[in-house]
Amino acid sequence: MFDSSSSEKILKDLRDEVKRYPIGVKLPSNRELVKRYQASAGTVSRAIAALAAEGLVDAVPGSGVFRARERAKRPGTMDCSWQEVSLNAEPGGLPATVRHDAASLLAYLQTPPPGAMDLASGYPHSSLQPEQALSSAHARAGRRPGAWTRPPVEGIAELREWFARDIGSAPSPSDVLICAGGQSALVCTLRSLAQPGAAVLVESPTYPGVLAAARAAGLRPVPVPVDADGVRVELLAKAFTSSGAGVFVCQPLFQNPTGATLAAERRAPVLEAARAAGAFVVEDDFVRRLGHGAPLLAPLVEDDQDGRVVHIHSLTKATSPNLRIAALVARGAAFERLRTAQVIDNFFVPKTLQETALELVGSPAWPRHLRSLAAELRERKELAVAALGEHLPEFEVTLVPKGGYHLWLRLPEDSPAETDVVASARRAGVLVTAGGPYFASEPSARFLRLSYAAAPSAAGVRDGVRRLAEGWRSVGAS
Ligand SMILES: Cc1ncc(COP(=O)(O)O)c(C=O)c1O
Repeated sequence: MFDSSSSEKILKDLRDEVKRYPIGVKLPSNRELVKRYQASAGTVSRAIAALAAEGLVDAVPGSGVFRARERAKRPGTMDCSWQEVSLNAEPGGLPATVRHDAASLLAYLQTPPPGAMDLASGYPHSSLQPEQALSSAHARAGRRPGAWTRPPVEGIAELREWFARDIGSAPSPSDVLICAGGQSALVCTLRSLAQPGAAVLVESPTYPGVLAAARAAGLRPVPVPVDADGVRVELLAKAFTSSGAGVFVCQPLFQNPTGATLAAERRAPVLEAARAAGAFVVEDDFVRRLGHGAPLLAPLVEDDQDGRVVHIHSLTKATSPNLRIAALVARGAAFERLRTAQVIDNFFVPKTLQETALELVGSPAWPRHLRSLAAELRERKELAVAALGEHLPEFEVTLVPKGGYHLWLRLPEDSPAETDVVASARRAGVLVTAGGPYFASEPSARFLRLSYAAAPSAAGVRDGVRRLAEGWRSVGAS
């Protein structure tokens, strides 16, 4: 097997060779190239495909691959300044309340620079993903009869059934809509349940993707503080009254970023506050699969009596960010609204991906993977907490949750700005996330989020914390 550095070498070698060919000259056959480089057929095909994408070769079916004719050069830089006016001028442009800002999400999804320890990503490291089981599931899914036919827009029946059973006793399969991951489900939900200009209640702090989705839908996120037991119910009731919001978005289990779980005694008051306001509760159950082994409270949708809870359950965190499959559960007219929004946006989620998810969750590898993931996350969390105590005792670990993949750290009051701390950490070779973007308005203090699942190993977590401490000292902190 050739690794990616070898395939890059092959590509470079072939590129240099092809550039010396006159136009129309045929390249050696794939078989010859396989022999020459001692590489797999797949590696050679990928190199040829890359050359074709660069415009250096043309593949002629049945004849071979040939040096391509020179194409007209792309203009260097385009003058796109007209777009600034077109995208922002009113009327005819976007309403002033609509804001497209994905900076915090792009920071989440950044590719770490070589050598940097990633303690920022919202997804477990690839070594914690069930790669083997996913590949087998994907191969089996591709061989299923009708794999490439169009699925029902709501999702394939077997997957809707599996989600309904797995979520609990409350939903029936007809309440389940298959979406392309949790973010897509959130976007679809916010756009469907609230009108532009309306307020939407969010936990404070909360996942920046909720804030970005709300603002892009023209909604006004109104923060409601959380403590170690989840949202502060008395403030929630007040926020419903003062804002007129018809939607409250929450993560009752291992909340991002605080790790808080909504306490059992707060569940009924949350639903009651929403009922009194005639509002929906959107339950983003994003890390139910990332518990660390202790028993978990049932999802809030299990307590739903009147179609108040819209439940989102994504598979990405426990599998791979690429398995963009989530269930969106809703009853009554809300389901119809969500289905309409999903059809307008995407038509449906690719069937092969749905079949892959179904193959994966039905395989014996799935429960094994979840058990080993839980054990690994628990170990990493304990290591991270210990390393923080040793190297950064001035950082307060606000909560040690029994699940999830991250810790929420309060910086000392006299701390430099979070962005400076994050930048100095980056210079010291570790990526962490600044706390500011998790707040819909003014942050209550300075925070960092540390994701212990994103590191390549448990030892990497300890090393990352050590680098964070190095960066912290270099920025002039105590
Ligand atoms: C709270 C929360 N909800 C939803 C998502 C979206 O994840 P995905 O779209 O991969 O399901 C994330 C990602 O980090 C998250 O933290």
